[in-house]
Amino acid sequence: MNDRNSRALKKILSPSILAADHAALADGLKIVQDNALEWIHLDIMDGNFVPNISFGPGVVKALRSRDDKLFFDTHLMLARPDKYIEKFAESGADLITVHVEPDYPITETLCRIRELGKKAGISLNPDTPAEALLPYLDIVDLVLVMSVFPGFGGQKFIADVLPKIEKLAQWRTERGGNWRIEVDGGVDSTTAPLCLAAGADTLVAGTAFFKAPDKPAFIRLCQGE
Ligand code: DX5
Ligand code: ZN
Repeated sequence: MNDRNSRALKKILSPSILAADHAALADGLKIVQDNALEWIHLDIMDGNFVPNISFGPGVVKALRSRDDKLFFDTHLMLARPDKYIEKFAESGADLITVHVEPDYPITETLCRIRELGKKAGISLNPDTPAEALLPYLDIVDLVLVMSVFPGFGGQKFIADVLPKIEKLAQWRTERGGNWRIEVDGGVDSTTAPLCLAAGADTLVAGTAFFKAPDKPAFIRLCQGE
């Protein structure tokens, strides 16, 4: 994440625990640990910004108590994420990503995340133009491009977002930025290579990861190997 040369950014797979068995989340965590992955994606939904409710900071803290090494990639799908930054920071999140669509003080929220010593991310829905992120690109560590409308796992990848990934990758090169470009939703063995070719370096996969019959092969594919 601190690499100045964005083209050299290591490719990362961040499995979404949303697709694991919620009655046994620690088992899902163990699957990620056993596959020697560095990141795990935690989807937080409020039933307001998105039409679904997942889990909150208490669950993040409980997962953190079982693992002190994984990078907790925390995706807040909340109408008022600014009200919960401290909670998620205390719970053990390493990266806190907030959406650009809701009405709240976005710049202050991103700065607060960094003040708390965490990485800051900004996300956008499939129908939000890349230009909406322009005011924030100098104060984030990661841009999260949604390739489905957030709220549920297991949806079909929206290929219309690929030009948006290309545009962000081009802006990053032009500006000498070092933020990661992460893609989330419907990433599988067919769509992962399309995301990487468009310029993404970080892929979220829930369903495809937890259901992959050959996880090492799926991981290598997502890591561009
Ligand atoms: C959707 C979530 C995604 C989701 C991805 O609202 O942000 O992270 O869990 O799941 P799959 O990989 O199944 O599309
Ligand atoms: Zn997500």
